[in-house]
Amino acid sequence: MSGHGTPVPMTSSACGPLKGVAEVPGDKSISHRSLILGALCVGETRITGLLEGDDVLDTARAMRAFGATVTDHGGGEWSVQGVGVGGFAEPAGVIDCGNSGTGVRLIMGAMATTGITATFTGDASLCSRPMGRVTDPLALFGTQTVGREGGRLPMTLVGAADPVPVRYVVPVPSAQVKSAVLLAGLNAPGETVVIEKEATRDHTERMLAGFGAEIEIEITDEGRVITLQGQPELQPQIIAVPRDPSSAAFPVCAALIVPGSDVLVPGIGLNTTRAGLFTTLREMGADLTYENERTEGGEPVADLRARYSPDMHGICVPPARAASMIDEYPVLAVVAAFATGVTDMQGVKELRVKESDRIDAMAQGLRAAGVQVAEGEDWWQVIGLGAGQVPGGATVESRLDHRIAMAFMVMGMATQQPMCVDDGSPITTSFPIFGPLMDRLGAQITQSQA
Ligand code: S3P
Repeated sequence: MSGHGTPVPMTSSACGPLKGVAEVPGDKSISHRSLILGALCVGETRITGLLEGDDVLDTARAMRAFGATVTDHGGGEWSVQGVGVGGFAEPAGVIDCGNSGTGVRLIMGAMATTGITATFTGDASLCSRPMGRVTDPLALFGTQTVGREGGRLPMTLVGAADPVPVRYVVPVPSAQVKSAVLLAGLNAPGETVVIEKEATRDHTERMLAGFGAEIEIEITDEGRVITLQGQPELQPQIIAVPRDPSSAAFPVCAALIVPGSDVLVPGIGLNTTRAGLFTTLREMGADLTYENERTEGGEPVADLRARYSPDMHGICVPPARAASMIDEYPVLAVVAAFATGVTDMQGVKELRVKESDRIDAMAQGLRAAGVQVAEGEDWWQVIGLGAGQVPGGATVESRLDHRIAMAFMVMGMATQQPMCVDDGSPITTSFPIFGPLMDRLGAQITQSQA
């Protein structure tokens, strides 16, 4: 769990060219799902390349609490001895999901149609985030919930002992909500149907099919219609977790703004539901190329090569692209400050309910660093100053949000004065090797105020 200990102030100062190979850790979304789906099989799932960040470690602990045997074999190799669909045991204690919205929402879905009771909590960030978006559809299966005002954690779910299947149109573009409903549908008899108007990351659908569930996807006038047959016997799998495009975003964006840089980020998934940032950066004129394009585990993968790009320009990032880069807007906003002209980001109100209100957190930090930002509920604009023209020299609150902390550390690599964050400890939730990895490329990040 992050953010429960002593704050770790961090400072990032202008550095020489970033050079070398940045091997980022495993994908966070796929890591959570590997553990949860592994726990829902009878037999042993083997996982390599699991992200060993706090968020995923909290999910591993939770799966043990529900009765699965989760073993760390070292070096990113894990195994899960599952209990089968409907086989979760009632946990003896409270399930603490730390900072992880994905962890808590997917686990709520996975237990919601089993006749057990579980109480969930998390850190101050997670306890401020809305859970009604998940507990509302779970109620349709027959799950009961008692939580704090506004549908906040801590919260107790009484699973439906006799669940009914549901048909649910997801009202917000959220892979977490979609996934929670699908995981709940696993233990309901008959067909559970989830409809999303905008495509969000599709790892749950792909992995459910991989684990042997009967799942069909149709594109209709209503949107993406996902039909899952309930009560399958899931088959244990051997999973190689690909590297995380959302973590790759940080060394890629750093290389684009630090003069003379040339960084290779190998083995990054370019699943279209995740790769929106890279498309956007290329439209802005970034020198970002895909090398050695290939298919791995059914997913398009490439080595990303990012070189210093002093001539980037602002663009309008369309709302239709938001879901495919929802976690990447903080670091895109940093790149936008070093481009010329306005970068206009539309259809992004989901950013306001992430680990922090990311529009507000970024706007405050960017303004303190001398960059103009305009914002509305569902949009924001960064007015670029151009390469080498960003003053910096601010201390920014990371608000228990790993991506806010990392975005400002990237920014400080190319600002005129250093950038500080009050607490870099949340970085361990998703990218525990961020500091050493960036250091090896040539960054100047220290763990104290400048
Ligand atoms: C995730 C979905 C996204 C994303 C989060 C991971 C997932 O959240 O922000 O970091 O693994 O399903 P939403 O589904 O709430 O947009």
